[in-house]
This record gives sequence, structure tokens and C-alpha cells, in this order.
Amino acid sequence: IREPALAGRHVVISAGGTREPLDPVRFLGNRSSGKQGYALARTAAARGARVTLVSANPQLPDPAGVDVVPVGTAKELREAVVKAATDADAVVMAAAVADFRPASYATGKIKKKDGQEPEPVALVRNPDILAEIAAARPRPGQLVVGFAAETDDVLVNGRAKLARKGCDLLVVNEVGEAKTFGAEENEAVVLGADGSETPVPNGPKEALADTVWDLVAARLVS
Ligand code: PMT
Repeated sequence: IREPALAGRHVVISAGGTREPLDPVRFLGNRSSGKQGYALARTAAARGARVTLVSANPQLPDPAGVDVVPVGTAKELREAVVKAATDADAVVMAAAVADFRPASYATGKIKKKDGQEPEPVALVRNPDILAEIAAARPRPGQLVVGFAAETDDVLVNGRAKLARKGCDLLVVNEVGEAKTFGAEENEAVVLGADGSETPVPNGPKEALADTVWDLVAARLVS
């Protein structure tokens, strides 16, 4: 166990990718496997934390000693994270959350009609859970950590996102169709609202998770 430990602390982690249903057979989704969030959960449990893992569409076995709350959509993820965050020392949002969802849900499968072009899909905004938790801070001294999945201008976009979301730390990682999503390894820069920048070289997702917990534990007041 690396020091400082998280014994007696309650940490809430979100993992996986939300799915926003269009009809009973289709959804808007993303490529998150949940591996980074599960690595955060395992390493926090190994440091003695009580861990609530809100997992969007889990594809991985439950980590030992972790309270797993399975969810599907961004709205369900929000409800579970907000509930678990009330007494949390730290909230870490590693889930890939859909920014938009289909404006309507068809209760029957949407059929293609002969000779007709498909209807455009109207989208509406999902709630920004990270910004909401960072603004609310239901527990005094609570630390809020976000992830930024970027494909270009990674650090510039990451810095802007840190300011916009209002979190304490933002883990900026580059993603692509086969980069980071589903991989065993990750590399990132962890930006702090205090101006700090912690580069984490490419390595197992547990190594990035350990750096996140080092930074969180160093910032938690007793
Ligand atoms: O799951 P893996 O395959 O291991 O891949 C890991 C990962 C790439 C999914 C992970 O490392 C990661 O980057 N997670 C965040 C993905 C994401 O949604 O990034 P974003 O830049 O779109 O969102 C920024 C932050 O806001 C994230 O903390 C996200 O959880 C949060 N968010 C986003 C939208 C929304 N409506 N509500 C949110 O809370």
C-alpha cells in the first residue's frame, strides 16, 4: 500500500460508458471499457478506502471489497453519484458520459420505410454531473476529480475544461478509436486547480490510478 493511505475515507468512482437508448434495440454509446475506473476502485480499496463504484454498463467482474452500483444512462449515473457523494471524501469521475441523448424514445423498434430517407435524430443535453458535484460539494472539504478525454490540443482543451468544470484535479488523457479506450495502459497529465501539473508516463492503468490517489490523499484535510 502506497502512502498516504485512504483508510477510513469514502471514495466514489464512476466508470464505464453510458448508453442513451433510441428504441428497445439501439443506443448512443461510446468506447469506454471501464478499465480505468475499475483500476481506480481496486487501488483505492487496497489503500483502505470504502469504495462506491458507479459503473455504467459493466463489462468487468466486480472488484473485491467494493460496493458496485450498476447504471445504464447518464441520468441514472447522475442519480447514483449524487446519492453516494453526500458523505464522500472524494468523487472521481472516470466514466465516459454522453453529453447528449436522443430527445425521444421509441417504444417499438424504429423501422426503415421503403423509398424514404431516414428521419434525423434530435438530441438534447444531458446534465453535467462533474460540474454539478464540483459546485455542490455536499461534504465540506470534499475533493472532486474529473477526467478529460481529448483527441486534439489535449492540454489546451484540458486546462479550459478544468476551469469550466470547477473540479480540483483533472486527469487529461488522449483518446482515439483504439487509444486508451479498452487498453491496459494509459498516459496522462493531471492538472490541479492550484496550477500543478503532474505528468504520468505510459503504463498500467493502476499506475495512473495510484498517482491520482497520491494527489487526492495529499489534498484531503483531516
Ligand atoms: O474505460 P476505459 O476503456 O479504461 O477508458 C478510460 C477513459 C478514456 C474512458 C477515461 O480515462 C476517461 O477519459 N474518462 C472520461 C471520459 C469523458 O467523458 O471525458 P469528457 O472530456 O467528455 O468529460 C469530462 C469529465 O466530465 C469526465 O470526468 C466525465 O465523467 C464528466 N462528464 C461528462 C459529461 C457529462 N454530461 N457529465 C459529466 O460528469
